[in-house]
Order: sequence, then C-alpha cells, then structure tokens
Amino acid sequence: ATGHLGALAVAAGAAKPRNGGRPCAAVLGDPLPALDDDPGLLVHPSADFAAQALVSSTQQYREMYQRSIDDPAGFWSEIAEEFYWKQKWNPDAVCSENLDVTKGPIKIEWFKGGKTNICYNAVDRNVESGNGDKIAMYWEGNEPSDDGKLTYSELLDQVCQLANYLKSVGVGKGDAVVIYLPMLMELPIAMLACARIGAVHSVVFAGFSADAIAQRIIDCKPKVVITCNAVKRGLKAIPLKDIVDTALVESAKNGVDVGICLTYENQSALNKVDTRWKPGRDVWWQDVVPNFPTKCDVEWVDAEDPLFLLYTSGSTGKPKGVLHTTGGYMVYSATTFKHAFDYKPADVYWCTADCGWITGHSYVTYGPLLNGATVLVFEGAPNYPDPGRCWDIVDKYGVTIFYTAPTLIRSLMRDGTEYVSRYSRKSLRVLGSVGEPINPTAWRWFYDVIGDSRCPISDTWWQTETGGFMITPLPGAWPQKPGSATFPFFGVQPVIVDEKGREMEGECSGYLCIKKSWPGAFRTLYGDQDRYETTYFKPFAGYYFSGDGCRRDKDGYHWLTGRVDDVINVSGHRIGTAEVESALVSHPKCAEAAVVGIDHEVKGQGIYAFVTLVDGVAYSDDLRKSLIMTVRGQIGAFAAPDKIHWAPGLPKTRSGKIMRRILRKIASRQLDELGDTSTLADPGVVDQLIALSDS
Ligand code: WTA
Repeated sequence: ATGHLGALAVAAGAAKPRNGGRPCAAVLGDPLPALDDDPGLLVHPSADFAAQALVSSTQQYREMYQRSIDDPAGFWSEIAEEFYWKQKWNPDAVCSENLDVTKGPIKIEWFKGGKTNICYNAVDRNVESGNGDKIAMYWEGNEPSDDGKLTYSELLDQVCQLANYLKSVGVGKGDAVVIYLPMLMELPIAMLACARIGAVHSVVFAGFSADAIAQRIIDCKPKVVITCNAVKRGLKAIPLKDIVDTALVESAKNGVDVGICLTYENQSALNKVDTRWKPGRDVWWQDVVPNFPTKCDVEWVDAEDPLFLLYTSGSTGKPKGVLHTTGGYMVYSATTFKHAFDYKPADVYWCTADCGWITGHSYVTYGPLLNGATVLVFEGAPNYPDPGRCWDIVDKYGVTIFYTAPTLIRSLMRDGTEYVSRYSRKSLRVLGSVGEPINPTAWRWFYDVIGDSRCPISDTWWQTETGGFMITPLPGAWPQKPGSATFPFFGVQPVIVDEKGREMEGECSGYLCIKKSWPGAFRTLYGDQDRYETTYFKPFAGYYFSGDGCRRDKDGYHWLTGRVDDVINVSGHRIGTAEVESALVSHPKCAEAAVVGIDHEVKGQGIYAFVTLVDGVAYSDDLRKSLIMTVRGQIGAFAAPDKIHWAPGLPKTRSGKIMRRILRKIASRQLDELGDTSTLADPGVVDQLIALSDS
C-alpha cells in the first residue's frame, strides 16, 4: 500500500503543469484562469430553454440533489419504479455498501432481490407502450449515401433473432460474448441480444489489435465472438475478421478455444470471398440469424447479475475488466441521460462515441433506448469526405442533442468555421462533451460556432468505472463556466482530498474521490477483487478514488485537471503508460522503456516514449518505426507513440525506480523545472537525455 501512495505522491506533483485542466493553453491561446473573479464568464441558459427544461433552476436542482443525498433509497426507488421489474427489490435493502477497506471487503449492491431485464426495458417496453413505430436508430454509414433505420418494433425483431441464434449455439445466462464490431446497428443489437438472454457482453473497440483482443478473450473466455468482415474508415478498408482470426489462433494457443465466430457481412467494406475463414468455427450472420424467430423470451435476471465487462486501462499491468451489473446500471444510465441532456421524446440524439468505449455503452445504447429515444449511429469518420460531415449529418436527421469529445471539437476548430457555417444546425438544442477536460477556447467555439450561442453544453465528467455521469451540468439549471463540469449529479458526493486523504472544504485542489456509492458504480474487476480494492479503495480509505485531479472554485464549480496516475488520455482514449511500455520492451532491440504524456494541441495528450536499447544496437529511423509498429500491433493504432526518445539510460533512484517526474519535464521541455536530481543513482543521465532531446 505504501508503494501505491508513493506513486500517487509523485504523480500528483506532475499533474500540476497541465494548466489546471486546459491541455492546450499555449497553442490555442487560452487565457490563464481568471475565472474566480470574473462573473462575466458565466454562461446562462436562455430563458426559453430554462422554461422548458426538466430541471429549470439552480433552486430546483438543489432541492432534488439534497433529497438524493438525504434519502438515497427513497430517491432512487422512486425512479426505479418507472422501469419494469419482474420482481420488486427488497425495500429494506435498496442499497447496501461498504466502501471502507478497513471495515471489510468492498461491496456495492443496489435493488438486491429485484428481477428485471435491461433489454426488455430498453426495447420491448417501448413497443408495448405504443412506440413501436418510433425510430429507435438511424444509421449513417461511412459514405454519405449509405444509411438505414430501425423502428423500435424492428429493433425488437432483430434483437430477438440474434438472441435466439445465440441460445441455439448454447449461450446462456452468465456466459461471456465478445463483440468486435464497428458502429453498425448490429453492434447495439448484439449488446441487447446478450442482455436479453442474460449473457455478459464484452465489447472490444474495433481499433484494438489482434493481441489486445486475444488478451481479453483469454481473460473472459467467451462462448462466441461476434465481428464483421471489414469496416471502411474514410477510404481505407480494415479487415476486422482477419484480425479476429489471428486473435482466435492466439487465444487457442493459450487454452481458450472459442467455438463460434459469428461474422456479419458488411457489404460496403470488403468482398466476402476475401475474408479468412475457418469452416466449423466461422459463421456468416446473414446465413443464420434471419432464420430465427422474431420472438424470444426474456431471461429475468437479478439486479446484481452481471450485464457487461468492459476492459479499460489502469496505471499498471494488463487491462482491467470493469464489471457492471444490471439493475443499478439500468436506472443510472437512463436517469443521467435524461437529465444531463434534458431529454424530450421528440429529440434526435447523436453521440459520436464508439460502443467500444463506455460512452457508447451508456449513451449510445442503454441510456437513450431506456428513455425511448431516437439514436443516431454513425459508422464513418467525422472528417470524411470533408470536415463538414458532422453538420451535414445534423441537418440530414435534424439532430437535437449532439454529444462528442473535446479532441473532435479541437480538430474541427482547426479546419475552420467555413465547414460549419455551410450548414444550418438549427435543430440543435443541447451539446455535450466527454472524455477529457475541455479547454475554455474549445468550449467557446463549440458554444458560439456550433451551437450559435443558443445551446447549453453538458460537460460530463465520468469514467468506465462509474457507469454514468458523475459531475455534469443540468443544462437548464446552471449558469456555466466554460471548462468546468460544474456540479454533481443526483446522489453523487464528490470530495476533494489532500495527499493524506483529508477532505478539503471550499475552494481547493486535490484528488477527486467519491463518498458513498451510486447505482451505476462498477461492482468489481472481473476475477480480481484484490486489484479492485487496491486500485480504487485503498489509496484513500473510505472513498472511491477516481484517479483524477480536481479543483473546486469559490462558487463550488468543479474543474477536472486530468489524471494523477500513470494513465494518459489520448483523444479521449484511456491508455496505461505501463501497457505501452510493455509493448515497447517486447521488441527484441528495446531494453527498457518509460512512457509519459505530453500536451497535444488536438489530442489533448500525446504519447512520449523514452527507450533504451540492448547493448550494441544503434538507434535508427527504421528502429523507431519498428518500435511504433510493435505498439500498434500489441495495442492498436490509437496507442502509437507520437515521439520516441532514444536514451542511453533512464533517470533512476538508487533503488532503481524510474523518476517519471523528470522524464515528464524533459518531454515537455520544462528544463528549468527539473527539480532535485541529486537523489538519482546517476545524475549524469539527465544531461545526456536533454542533449538527445532533439535527435
Ligand atoms: C477523463 C470516459 C475531464 C478523466 C467517460 C477520467 C474527463 C477518464 C471528462 C475516464 C470530462 C472523462 N472532463 N475529464 N468531462 N470525461 N474524463 O474510463 O480523466 O474512458 O478519469 O471514461 O477520462 O475515461 P474512460
């Protein structure tokens, strides 16, 4: 435990220079925060917006929030009643929890004893309530001419057919299914089909490499893997099935033999005959699924039965299988969606996230469908055929709620406003941001240019682990400060603690923790309760520790300042430095690697890797490329280092611990802030490293 705290203390110092959560201050010209004394920076929702909003004043928010804290069981039970439960939960045990490691094992349970099904609530119930003809999903493909749609009734039929197929091949309650699909409607369909029969889905983002898929397959041992032949990103076709094929060979070598690989034929992407195929194991979706009945009984599961596993990066070791269960997650994802976006039945909602990440789970699939919303699923790239694509889509479908990531906003901002002003965007009424702190300049551009200064922005802070929004504006309730995620959602008690775990009051800055559980909280790390407790609950006893730094200003607004652990956030993708390092050192010519994050104008953070080579090997451009290819191969293209810095040696303490603090300073060229280097085993390496900085 002391080692862990030690690491935190080092990381904490290093979190500071990230400009208080404004990652690209220097480049995009953000003013330094003068927010504390400038009430002029408050951005109020318009009177019209507030008048129609679900929560329309600060006062109303305060009352609801207070109630959620004073009586969580009553507050959440009332909301849970709005869903269908085959059997009601035990009213005396709405929530039972222990978040304090000193008092025994960590445990979080909500609605225990209740039986329900999230697929039933998200799909059947909308059909049964007379909304069967409402559009559940619009789909827009890579090419602007490719599109499709499904009503709630059609969605139900398709989910049932796939669920019946899965049952026919022996998938049942509690079995894992790995899904490796791009943003086709079949991706949410596959998630829902698993949920319908009580199977546990584990979606793997379709940008991960074969090695990364294999690692996940070996961990969760799925009965079936669902994929498609290929996907087209812009002009490039990526043969997803071939990647899965390699992963399946690799997992078989490790004793995990997946019996079936169900492959959807994505016709626009690649010819079927060009797909690698293993008869017996591989099955074309279109050959089997449509033959199954469009009715499939629901498997009623316990509120605490697992719904999905989603692997995410931590500061050490292999990816962690974050486990979410059914009842609490259902209630929480739906409620957060409704309030943070001020959802109304006529909305057309578009979230640009991929279902391979938590945002796509909670806010493409479950949250919106549980509210009976119309969701747009977009397979393509936001800048193809040109940087106006998003606004073209907004106008085409009349999108009213648009939810995206700061990295996309910054990249479109760089492409210029002419791509935006070509389109009307009149339908938009609420905007959202997620994945990393949004710098005020990007916030302003999003607000003024994309939203024509009409649409409130919900800057939602949350994590794979939290299942849903934790700190977020309610768009009709709060005047906003550009760059602040504002206030906690109902039932969430954020606290900011110092390095000793003491809660700080008023204006302060420190580690962001959460006191008390909330229904959407993850319940464990799959197969590793120890790591669950060590990572999240041991650093500050009595609290869930988020891994993020946070500042609270004098008005109580929260400002996220980025990760304080060894996790970096590249274009909103969470990447563990340890994963990149382990990929690099697997290269036969690499002796040692240390990876740090650096500010990046568009991506928020970039990956900067220091490497030392095995004796006798000379550094060359070919070697640099080959190191980068190794990372792409082991994790995925999104984790490729932006910079490889060859080093004769790394700065280490006498006990052999790499001093990342110093490496971060060298990487970001803050050479006058290197601090004390006298405790290094060999202080000379620092000068060598600096001398090699520009090589
Ligand atoms: C960061 C994504 C600031 C944060 C939902 C967190 C944010 C990590 C925000 C989780 C935000 C996410 N403002 N930082 N609005 N949203 N983050 O698990 O560092 O992929 O810990 O979940 O993203 O990333 P994850």
